[in-house]
Amino acid sequence: MPETAQMSVIGKGQPRIDGPAKVSGQAMYTSDFYFPGMLYAVPVEATIASGRVTKLDPSAAEKMPGVRAIFHRQNIGKIFRSVPGQGFEGIIDERRPPFEDDIIRYYGQYIALAVADTFESAKAAADAVRATYAQEKPNVETDLKADDEAETVPTTFGPAKRVQSERGDAEGAFSNAPVKLDQTYVTPVETHNPIELHATTAMWDGSKLTVYEASQAIFNLQGILEQVFGLPKEDVRVVSKFLGSGFGGKLWPWTHCMLAVAAARQLEKPVKLVISRKMMFQAVGHRPRTQQRVRLGATTEGKLVSLQHDYVFSKSILDDYQEDCGEATAFHYSVPNLRVKFSRAKRNFGSPTAMRGPGAVPGLYATESALNELADQLKLDPVQLRILNEPKTNEALSIPFSSRHLLECFELGGQKFGWSKRTSEIGSMKRDGLTLGWGMAGCTWVAARFPAEASVQLRDDGTARVACGTQDIGTGTYTILAQLTSQKSGVPLNKVEVVLGDTSLPPGPISGGSMVTGSVVPAVFQAADNAITSLLSIATATKGSPFEKRKSDELAFEGGRVFVKADGSTKGVPFPDLLRRANIRLVTGSGKAEATFGNPKPKFSTHSFGCHFVEVTWQPEIARLRVSRVVTVIDAGRIINPLAGRNQIEGAVVMGIGMALLEHTSYDPRNGAPINSNLADYMMAVNADVPPIDVHFLDFPDKEINELGARGIGEIGLAGIAAAITAAVHHATGVRVRELPVTIENLLMSSV
Ligand code: MOS
Repeated sequence: MPETAQMSVIGKGQPRIDGPAKVSGQAMYTSDFYFPGMLYAVPVEATIASGRVTKLDPSAAEKMPGVRAIFHRQNIGKIFRSVPGQGFEGIIDERRPPFEDDIIRYYGQYIALAVADTFESAKAAADAVRATYAQEKPNVETDLKADDEAETVPTTFGPAKRVQSERGDAEGAFSNAPVKLDQTYVTPVETHNPIELHATTAMWDGSKLTVYEASQAIFNLQGILEQVFGLPKEDVRVVSKFLGSGFGGKLWPWTHCMLAVAAARQLEKPVKLVISRKMMFQAVGHRPRTQQRVRLGATTEGKLVSLQHDYVFSKSILDDYQEDCGEATAFHYSVPNLRVKFSRAKRNFGSPTAMRGPGAVPGLYATESALNELADQLKLDPVQLRILNEPKTNEALSIPFSSRHLLECFELGGQKFGWSKRTSEIGSMKRDGLTLGWGMAGCTWVAARFPAEASVQLRDDGTARVACGTQDIGTGTYTILAQLTSQKSGVPLNKVEVVLGDTSLPPGPISGGSMVTGSVVPAVFQAADNAITSLLSIATATKGSPFEKRKSDELAFEGGRVFVKADGSTKGVPFPDLLRRANIRLVTGSGKAEATFGNPKPKFSTHSFGCHFVEVTWQPEIARLRVSRVVTVIDAGRIINPLAGRNQIEGAVVMGIGMALLEHTSYDPRNGAPINSNLADYMMAVNADVPPIDVHFLDFPDKEINELGARGIGEIGLAGIAAAITAAVHHATGVRVRELPVTIENLLMSSV
């Protein structure tokens, strides 16, 4: 690709093109849509977590003003079961259709649905529905003992071997190792709390269904709705134009969506259903609790000889969401003997689901913490220990890394942070009367592509349009699509129309796994190239065109101009002139790129890498701990939009401060209810908790992913940060916390 002026669109910080629509209130989020005659639905939540509904009495609710219907098992109509489809289709974490039986398996499970003319009437009616239960004692026990299960178990994504990875003799090497570490690390249930609540607006036009949904994966939802309502796929349209984020909670469909669709079908009116903040804690996923035993064996010099990672996570009664804490364990460090195994423990919770950096985030908290403890045990610098164990290849799969620059991350991060000034003794560092703690950790996250299609139009007024049925969950996908189109077409960013979030568009990737950017690059580039090819043939075929006598292969296109290759680009004709001369409104091209994700025999191990250096301040007199400084370095290939990219990493670090110090969902052992199910009691990091965050990107394009070498950056920033923070806490206070979040009660044990 020649380096032209247009190249500056890629790799330059671009403010979000959808920013003005958002700040001026014009951006339509799912709950903003209104349609004439629309009704409002509010689900009725079970107030037990285990047992059976013995009687449901809707009679008082039905008589309330404005109420159109109270739906329940007997009158909701048919909602079928769905099955996993081929490849990456038919995914849902709670497979049981709503109202399928009378059994209650978690608190907040929907048992009825009130529909009324206004939201207020619907809420009042939902509250007036009387349920009688045969209640059993729910199992919401925090301590996870592994369920007795087979060696291969079903998961949302198909059967999985519980021994995920194994090489050498991990047990033997551990027992013979001169230096040993055997610790268990615990992460609590965490609940996704994007500002935007889950919402559905469903509308039927005869047998055709349109659903506005706060969804990170509109095509998967379309496929699920096809199945559960028994429709031809082309009769189902899903729209998701703007999302107030999701963090994974909006990846896969949830039962409220089906209830809204079923109610709209019964009442022949559009139905809107927006769940409450309390409901966000019940039936729309969470990150499960994990208990992870890590055993490390090392030489006295610090070379790892054995790594065992055995973890248990909580799951729902019926479903098989898998929290893959071992995702990174098998390749992140060099170790000849290794075993990674998972177990599960059923609880009376709604199904867990993917939450930002699923698996790897809790997994790396455990393994990176173990490494930090081993470094202390060996009296080695934790960076040094990692350098000593840097792998040359992916030892789990015996394939090379496409691009791994973790050591450069450590070097740059250490420099920017001033790590060499660290004195290792606990409580030994002071500044302005505060005790300082310094800690660090490495991180990684998978990089791959989902299948993607796109179309690009070049129009006679000098504008372009790019369409791709992906979503923008707030991460900057609108802007990335515009940048890619601008780069190829020479059309300035403000003249590129971006259309996404609609299943009537070419199928785009799910907004998950930090894979959207990497996935759309080849599809958009191919679409633009095809539009340009079409333009060149018009240039030669049009009477009176300056290129009439030429063959299209003598022509080239760059910076929005068509020119004869031999003459150079300065002589070109702007493409709108050529289109207008030919009386053609637009040329269009489509592009399609296959997935690399899920390739059973990859040639390269493709991952992003990074590290965090963290400083905390500690005031023992008042037990006050603050995160005071973070330096994060990320190796994620080429960064297409450094402004949005840095913002992703900053957001992830903020979430990491919450993970380390604040976030946890507690369940009432009596009725199984999440008790801190509101934004006052479920603590998350807020502005006052956030120090200066210094983010750096390395620039090593990874051409295995796409021609720009761009990997993804949505999730990696949350990986490792909690381990860096707890290491800093230990360095400041001498308290080793192995169960998140770190609480004041933990720190009162400090002797420093
Ligand atoms: Mo992310 S948990 O893949 O939305």
